Amino acid sequence: MLTTRRQILWHRFFSAGLVSLCILNSLAIPSSYAQDYPPDRERGKAVFEHYCQNCHGKTGRGDGPGAVALKVPAANFQRFQSFLKSDEELLRTIEHGVVFSPMHSWRGQLTDGEMQDVVAYIRVLSQQGQ
Ligand code: HEC
Repeated sequence: MLTTRRQILWHRFFSAGLVSLCILNSLAIPSSYAQDYPPDRERGKAVFEHYCQNCHGKTGRGDGPGAVALKVPAANFQRFQSFLKSDEELLRTIEHGVVFSPMHSWRGQLTDGEMQDVVAYIRVLSQQGQ
């Protein structure tokens, strides 16, 4: 009787250990796979200055030199409407573009990491307007 109780306790102890090992493992995996994480604002700034600033402007208000010629005005990231959008929404627009708009898709030109970095930088700009 005593041995069985002890066995049960050991079993519990052991399986609890296994479960926590699994949890630790699953936490560790994403960070070792995802090399571009976390999104980096500084890298995002460089991407923005190179590809986006001409339309969206240095401070993200949509007043870049290239915006003058646009029929659809470039988005002003400092507007509340833009500020309220989730990272996923912004990312989707960057990845797929907007139909009938000068804002084309950047998939192919930017890597997933660069798109996430540039969203992080857009966040910095959009907060400056609040
Ligand atoms: C040729 C000009 C142009 C360039 C270059 C450009 N955009 Fe845009 N962008 C626009 C326009 C115009 C819109 C508004 C689209 C609409 O509403 O029809 C827009 C909208 C957006 C939006 C949606 C904002 C919102 O509030 O929904 C995001 C995000 C965005 N651009 C990010 C970028 C990023 C990141 C880059 C650079 C990689 C970039 N854009 C380059 C013209 C441009």
